[in-house]
Amino acid sequence: MKVSKFAPLIGAEVTGIDLREPIDAETRHQLNAALVDNVALVIRDQDFTPPQYLAAVSLFGEPMPQHFTQYALPDCPLVHEVSNRHKDKSGQRVKHGAGWHTDHTNHVRPPKYTCLFAVSLPSSGGDTAVVNMRAAYESLPRDIQQSLQGLKTVNVFQGSAASNYSGQSADAQAEKKPEPVLQPLIRVHPDSGKNALYFHPVKTENIVGMSPSNSQKLLNDLLERSIKDEFIYRHKWRKGDMLIWDNRAAMHKAHFDYNPEEFRLLYRVLVRGELPISA
Ligand code: SIN
Repeated sequence: MKVSKFAPLIGAEVTGIDLREPIDAETRHQLNAALVDNVALVIRDQDFTPPQYLAAVSLFGEPMPQHFTQYALPDCPLVHEVSNRHKDKSGQRVKHGAGWHTDHTNHVRPPKYTCLFAVSLPSSGGDTAVVNMRAAYESLPRDIQQSLQGLKTVNVFQGSAASNYSGQSADAQAEKKPEPVLQPLIRVHPDSGKNALYFHPVKTENIVGMSPSNSQKLLNDLLERSIKDEFIYRHKWRKGDMLIWDNRAAMHKAHFDYNPEEFRLLYRVLVRGELPISA
């Protein structure tokens, strides 16, 4: 197995491994360490059935159930389809993951990793981008870092700011609201000990002690400061790619930069995380 960095701050490629084969403990450790170090890993040239894919993702931890169970594969429900042919109840095409976000922050133990595997790709475009939120945090002026210490986001299934963001389906709006979950705005990585910005713009109803609109202003400002080329890995899909990233130090988004008549289908699995640690 070979791990090659794409860029200093984010992204690495893994070649020379077939995750359908038995993987020894040392290789598993190297894969997990490379993921934490590089925030996003592309494991090339894989060829999976859904159960084989699930077993491969399990090398990184325990797969967990996802929102929107209508997209689960009937025979392998921890694997979900991310398809550009999905429509919501109002007949609108669902644009999965169109804005920058991290997954399932309304869970007490949100997923530490998100993994995608390409099943069908458009002839060009359909990229997935991942941004290093650890580097984003480190780039903030010290006074801003200090002003964020101890802040908590209030996370719900769909926050009141959702309509400001593209790609929010009518199905999401129709879901009933479960109990809000507090998450640290500055999250400490359990392995690296480093701080990262951690929030989901749509799932954050507000920051504790702030109104929803002031909270969104602050999050928008932080997002704007984070979206810099040197912090971003933009993945151009190839057949056989398995892309996995570390949600404890990343946000991600799908680019809708392709012909929507062409079929794009990825399989997604989430890996259960720990209780987020506050800075
Ligand atoms: C997602 O947010 O999980 C979807 C990413 C993609 O379709 O590229």
